[in-house]
Amino acid sequence: MINIGGASGGAWTLPPLAEAVVDLDAIAHNTRVLAGRTEADLLAVVKADAFGHGFLEVARTALASGARWLGVTSQAEALALRVAGIEAPVLSWLHAPDEDFGPAVAARVDLSVASVAHLDAVVAAAERVGRRADVHLKVDTGLSRNGATEDDWPELVRLAHGQEAAGRVRVRGIWSHLAGSGLPGDPLDGAQLRRFNRALATARRLGLNPEVAHLAGSAALVGRPETHFDLVRPGIALYGVEPLPGRSVGLRPAMTLRSRVILTKRVPAGTGIAYGHDYVAPVATTLALVPVGYADGVPRSAAGRAEVWIGGRRHPVAGRVTMDQIVVDVGDLPVRTGDEVLLFGRGDRGEPTVVDWARWAGTNPHEIFTGIGARVIRRYLPIRSGRRSGGRERVRV
Ligand SMILES: Cc1ncc(COP(=O)(O)O)c(C=O)c1O
Repeated sequence: MINIGGASGGAWTLPPLAEAVVDLDAIAHNTRVLAGRTEADLLAVVKADAFGHGFLEVARTALASGARWLGVTSQAEALALRVAGIEAPVLSWLHAPDEDFGPAVAARVDLSVASVAHLDAVVAAAERVGRRADVHLKVDTGLSRNGATEDDWPELVRLAHGQEAAGRVRVRGIWSHLAGSGLPGDPLDGAQLRRFNRALATARRLGLNPEVAHLAGSAALVGRPETHFDLVRPGIALYGVEPLPGRSVGLRPAMTLRSRVILTKRVPAGTGIAYGHDYVAPVATTLALVPVGYADGVPRSAAGRAEVWIGGRRHPVAGRVTMDQIVVDVGDLPVRTGDEVLLFGRGDRGEPTVVDWARWAGTNPHEIFTGIGARVIRRYLPIRSGRRSGGRERVRV
């Protein structure tokens, strides 16, 4: 339900038109499965609102289920975890060098350092706050995105070591991120692994002794044990998407995206549907109107391929995805207003999955999850084992 406080003190409770139901038991299960595949500690990647799943609920569930660390990209996300009372180690990794890092240092948030300019800014914050900053030096081993190049690495290490000796920082971690598939034998990952080992050796030779080295995300966690080092950083796998195609490790999709039919109509053969009439009903059929569109994260680019689950069967999305609505061709199925519509779910009954939507839209599940709009209510199913209860309501999905 959506609760809206009225200006005059009144309030309304409205049923949601769409909701993302997040099964915290699946998050707990996935955390345990992933933690069980490695000797390394697990950092749960909860950036971008835990890939749209709700970062506090996911963070608490993951920590209660075997994760030791949390990973985010911004100080704002890291501080929100601290404000919520989460004390676990948090690494934040994407910053501009002109940020004031004081709040993160004061809140004991570990900061990634990718350049001398970033190091200087963190050192300045540590001096201001009067507290040593914990940093993870990032080396670019081949993704060519964030991190110091191999050429700049020795200089960054030397300066960081100097600041460590002066008590302003502790180099707690050395890390990098992979560009490849995570499949055993992928030469891209192999080359990065060799560069990472060289960077680690350089750091140790120049006097650093980091507590954790880390390189692997979901795919390498599943596919390449030699990349695990001391810490692994799964994101998408936590949410139940198998990171290696054809190599299931028994993950459970955590999110179900559902809506309901708000109007049905019978139309004759030849009826054009939605803007441009890209879809024309081939025979007389029933159309079901579903109040979700691209403003809710239903990708416009999936039109022509996408299907949804109504009444125990898949049906095609007819015509274009519009901002707030889709039309579904349900044929002769006796669909009624109020019937449940699953856009994606676990897939075990035949309903579409987030992986299907990613394929239909020509993207990855990460983008589908993070694109789910603010109008979509998040609802949480609690952990069923009774170890923790992360949500109040239970709904059938
Ligand atoms: C630095 C870093 N580590 C780990 C992850 C998690 O990756 P994945 O979702 O493939 O597990 C991400 C996600 O984008 C990332 O940016």
